[in-house]
Amino acid sequence: MSDGDESLAAQDRDKRFGPLGTALVIIPTYNEAENILAILGRVREAVPEAHVLVADDNSPDGTGKLADEFAASDEQVHVLHRKGKEGLGAAYLAGFRWGLERDYGVLIEMDADGSHQPEELPRLLTALGGADLVLGSRWVPGGRAVNWPKYREFISRGGSTYSRLMLDVPIRDVTGGFRAFRRATLEGLGLGEVASQGYCFQVDLARRAVKAGYHVVEVPITFVERVHGDSKMSRDIVVEALWRVTVWGVQGRLGRIAGRGESTADGDGTAAKG
Ligand code: GDD
Ligand code: MN
Repeated sequence: MSDGDESLAAQDRDKRFGPLGTALVIIPTYNEAENILAILGRVREAVPEAHVLVADDNSPDGTGKLADEFAASDEQVHVLHRKGKEGLGAAYLAGFRWGLERDYGVLIEMDADGSHQPEELPRLLTALGGADLVLGSRWVPGGRAVNWPKYREFISRGGSTYSRLMLDVPIRDVTGGFRAFRRATLEGLGLGEVASQGYCFQVDLARRAVKAGYHVVEVPITFVERVHGDSKMSRDIVVEALWRVTVWGVQGRLGRIAGRGESTADGDGTAAKG
């Protein structure tokens, strides 16, 4: 590429991302050897100006090595090697830290197995122009899940409904993992205090964003169940989500009751806020 081409490419990039800055697509992986190369190729094609970070938990099947090989010939692809399997939440927190230490303006969460279609990324990014956080959603009109076993759909819809009611978050798909954050939004969520390990990490970030007053928008997506490899969903992940959501819900209610008590004493309605 000549210098002229490069500055044209830079201008094009600025135009595409506008004031939001460069996007980093973070892909957590554990045993995704059959999927990782295909998904990297699709992301690079769908959003050529974005960077990608694979956050691999030392997958025994060699996913990290395959990602390294891809990254060796593509300077927009990066790999974060972690010691061992610590859960989706820990992998994302490490990935966010990596991205925030560099000057990315948008940080994106995406699964490696093809369930989140990279071709839908431009729609998420466009929506982020008018939002602080964009959630890819299966459960808003126009969204759906394809080839998903009935019991998974039941757990996901049930989990979303329970979380929505328990946490008072007006979100239809609160456990989904296809999301675009503005940098400032992530910086405002208090990531240092997040303890969630499994998929309830997603609920945790969504509730924090709503509580912090960010403008959260759901965009319909088509979630396509993986063809290769296995889901890492387990009983422990469901149990963690259930008890954490319940604890957050009860804490929130107690907090509001205490807040109302104070505000009555003060004669000032603002204490109940948040
Ligand atoms: N680094 C790392 N460490 N990655 C992990 C781990 C882990 O411990 N556990 C899962 N992953 C990666 C997988 O390799 C995959 O890229 C992504 O996280 C999602 O894992 P899946 O196992 O494919 O999730 P799923 O299809 O069962 O669940 C989907 O639905 C959930 C409920 O709505 C995902 O979209 C989840 O994000 C979502 O919470
Ligand atoms: Mn999956």
